[in-house]
Amino acid sequence: MAALDDCYNIADIRRAAKRRLPKSLFEFIDRATEDELAVRNNREGFERWRILPRAPLDVSKRELGTTLFGKPVSMPMAIAPTGAAGLMWYEAELCLARAAKAAGIPYTMATGSMVAFERVAKEVGGRLWFQLYVWPERSITYDLVRRVAAAGAEVLQVTVDTPVPPNREYNTRNGFGLPFRPTLANMTDMTLHPRWLVGTLLKYLLEDGMPKMRNHPAEFNNARTRPTIAPRLTLSDTVDLAEIKRLRDIFPGKLLVKGIMHPADAVACMDAGADGVVVSNHGGRNLDAAMATIDALPGIAAAIGGRGTIILDSGVRRGLDILKAVALGANAVQTGRATLWAAGAGGEPGVARALALFRHELDTAMANSGARTIEEITADLLVR
Ligand SMILES: Cc1cc2nc3c(=O)[nH]c(=O)nc-3n(C[C@H](O)[C@H](O)[C@H](O)COP(=O)(O)O)c2cc1C
Repeated sequence: MAALDDCYNIADIRRAAKRRLPKSLFEFIDRATEDELAVRNNREGFERWRILPRAPLDVSKRELGTTLFGKPVSMPMAIAPTGAAGLMWYEAELCLARAAKAAGIPYTMATGSMVAFERVAKEVGGRLWFQLYVWPERSITYDLVRRVAAAGAEVLQVTVDTPVPPNREYNTRNGFGLPFRPTLANMTDMTLHPRWLVGTLLKYLLEDGMPKMRNHPAEFNNARTRPTIAPRLTLSDTVDLAEIKRLRDIFPGKLLVKGIMHPADAVACMDAGADGVVVSNHGGRNLDAAMATIDALPGIAAAIGGRGTIILDSGVRRGLDILKAVALGANAVQTGRATLWAAGAGGEPGVARALALFRHELDTAMANSGARTIEEITADLLVR
């Protein structure tokens, strides 16, 4: 684990993941869509905001804890859903859930996971949230929602920003997709990353063949029945407010709509029965001209702040970004790439390291800005 000890920020963790993972996997995490403008703009959005710090002030007693949905979290943060996480590290979903639980924050499992939600609930527990992609065939979708509810999912994040597959040309070039397309280039790439090959892929192969999508219906993972069911498990392009209302009726826990950028949509989701929204452009992975989420946040906070829970993601790399998001009206942030790079770099200790870095950076940012509690992180600390 010496490599992890040498990681002093998320950029170091990203470099460690790059060393361990085959190029096709690293690019699947790291890159975005088309000309990759949105992913850059998310960062530039954060960088445009500056802090007007308050001092002199006794900041010796600082408290990073707050609440989400009425329950305590150790800092205003959760782990975002990332599909195929289990390809980065053997059963990475368990690593992410364990590290989140130990750090006192929620973990959101993606629909497309290599470990079943029930298993994470049984073996790890903690605050488990679930991300839903609505499939065209609603009955299979609702079966999954009932399954995760029965297993104790506290929150359902319904993703609404991906009605069609985005254009990610590098994935096609790299042969990265379902089914996986072996080429001389990607086979060589895997061989050149023996720590991943032996520690991750080989473990799956020896145990039960190629890694499988464990939240999908069993027919999806059976070679004989897969051709029939796979087309029924594509992205649905008909998810509307009526669908949000139906999911509200089916899922007994808290409902977050993920991928909201427009204040009017945030209001409409709340009116449809949601408990809040995730202000997200999917980490810049879908719509390349999407505005930065930190710039969309103030409008959404003005529209639903105080009424619904607001979580922001896309571009969070530093504790300072958490402070800026909270100042502009978010109850918390969630991280996709940062914690997934960490899982790819070092499994559970990797994710624990990333979360500890975020915590340390947020603590430093608060002290130097003159905010002793999360409530004291207010909009008047920020200037453009
Ligand atoms: C590799 C990868 C896979 C993802 N898979 C999903 C997914 O299955 N469902 C979803 O709603 N969001 C998915 N996301 C988006 C994240 O939930 C989150 O919105 C985004 O990563 C936040 O931006 P960040 O990576 O800059 O933190 C994925 C992101 C990455 C990087």
